[in-house]
Amino acid sequence: MKRHLILVGLPGAGKSTVGRLVAASLGTPIQDVDALIEERLGISIKEIFASRGEAEFRELERAETVQLLLDPPAVIVPGGGWAAQPGNLESVVGKALTVYLATSPSTALARVGDVDTRPLLAGDDRAARFESLLAAREPYYERCDVTVPTDGRTVGEIAREVIELALECE
Ligand code: S3P
Repeated sequence: MKRHLILVGLPGAGKSTVGRLVAASLGTPIQDVDALIEERLGISIKEIFASRGEAEFRELERAETVQLLLDPPAVIVPGGGWAAQPGNLESVVGKALTVYLATSPSTALARVGDVDTRPLLAGDDRAARFESLLAAREPYYERCDVTVPTDGRTVGEIAREVIELALECE
């Protein structure tokens, strides 16, 4: 892989699972931006949101991703909000292939794992939360280089399509 590959999409889109399959198949490292931030600060994403606020978290994830782009090509998996911050997608043009894993709110809700670790999904009406997150983010997500639909597909199928796309842009 000559360029980085960045996976974008709602929590529950399958970014981490698909990313691991793609990275293993392409023999490239996988970089989980949330995990790197947690490691760097020694506290969880939930704690960062609580003690420092979302704006500071967004700055941390922006800076972490910029740093990763300086390393050899990798599969980079930022959290679902990264691509929806103005300027972030634009900053990786020419350096990374951005792939939007498009997922309906109901599928994302059904697939998402641990909601307790995801501060933006806190609250009772999670279905409505996913709807509003997607409504706000879709205009950004759609600016990715390519869109891969994920509803009704297995992670293997999704990963295969992403691998083909990564190889095509060699
Ligand atoms: C967020 C998604 C999370 C994490 C943080 C904020 C978001 O990552 O970065 O809780 O804004 O959608 P996942 O997309 O891996 O859940």
